[in-house]
Amino acid sequence: MLKSLIFSTIALLAVCQALQTCEECLNSGNHYCADTKMCNSPVCLNSITHILNCPRAPNVTYDDNEARTKWLPLFGASATSAQMAQKCFDNNWPTMKLSKRILVNCSDPSPILPLTQCAMITAVDTTQKVLVMSFRATNTGTQLEEEFLNYFVAKKAFFDSGYIFEFFYDAYLALWKGGLEAEMRNLKYRYPDYEVWVTGHSLGAALASVGASWVVKTGLFKPEQMKLLTAGQPRTGDYAYSNWHQNTFAYSFRIVHAHDMVPHLPFQYELVDHDKMYHHRTEIWYNNDMSIGSSYHVCQEADGFYCSNQNADLSWNDHTHYYNTDLDGYGDKGCPKAN
Ligand SMILES: *[C@@H]1O[C@H](CO)[C@@H](O)[C@H](O)[C@H]1NC(C)=O
Ligand SMILES: *[C@@H]1O[C@H](CO)[C@@H](O)[C@H](O)[C@H]1NC(C)=O
Repeated sequence: MLKSLIFSTIALLAVCQALQTCEECLNSGNHYCADTKMCNSPVCLNSITHILNCPRAPNVTYDDNEARTKWLPLFGASATSAQMAQKCFDNNWPTMKLSKRILVNCSDPSPILPLTQCAMITAVDTTQKVLVMSFRATNTGTQLEEEFLNYFVAKKAFFDSGYIFEFFYDAYLALWKGGLEAEMRNLKYRYPDYEVWVTGHSLGAALASVGASWVVKTGLFKPEQMKLLTAGQPRTGDYAYSNWHQNTFAYSFRIVHAHDMVPHLPFQYELVDHDKMYHHRTEIWYNNDMSIGSSYHVCQEADGFYCSNQNADLSWNDHTHYYNTDLDGYGDKGCPKAN
């Protein structure tokens, strides 16, 4: 009698634990098992220890066709002259008009690197009611970017939501003060209800994450107006930043191409990097050449082990090719349509 009572109590406890959500499980100091979807599963291959990574689907649907026909030319347009940026729109999104191109000296991060310039464009589509902020990678567009990411891991506080990588903070602030703030206030005044699409590739992707966050933190735009899609984004902020970001933006996709190395920089984990940077949701991982019709993973975790983090052999070539397009020179050619 007593024995069976004990047994059923244990069984009940086990059932209760099993039924806990991932958040409840982690909040009570346990680990959540991604494979069995159980709290403290006795057998577990993939254990989740951070609430940031609790599995869930994104709130909105990722649209592969929209990404390759609209977002790709938007980030392509940031990496060329004003004239060719408009050509990128004419070729792909004819109602989109370039509003402003902003070019500033980014704060000099180190004497060992040459002066870096940061660039971005804004654009307006009065037909589809869309504003755009698109950020360029460095002007060098080479592996220098990787060096930045490896060398400069100092962080700055991002409002009241954690820390971001100092280089991104300073570069963003240089653009903001160098014309972007006035531009966005003006666009907001003229088009208060438009959606705001924010994008970039590589370092531009990190600046896009910061930019979308910034205009929301300053109260200029509401998170519901914002759409963010980045390609090859390096880790941009710490746990608190990424947690705030993913709890604030329903529409935020982080595209990762196969073995692209940049999304793995700077390193995430305590053992190799005390800065502990984490990605925010939602990673979309293409483990292929990203040609039309390619499959992709809609990753359930923010920065877990089950999407691109599985790949240990990292590639620079995958970083410069997104949606089966060589991004080097793509904007300068006016973003020709894929065929
Ligand atoms: C950027 O720095 C260079 C070199 O110091 C300077 O000549 C140039 O005027 C600066 N450009 C801007 C836009 O501030
Ligand atoms: C996403 O959906 C969940 C469930 O409906 C909701 O609680 C959460 O606030 C949404 N997230 C965002 C960022 O809108």
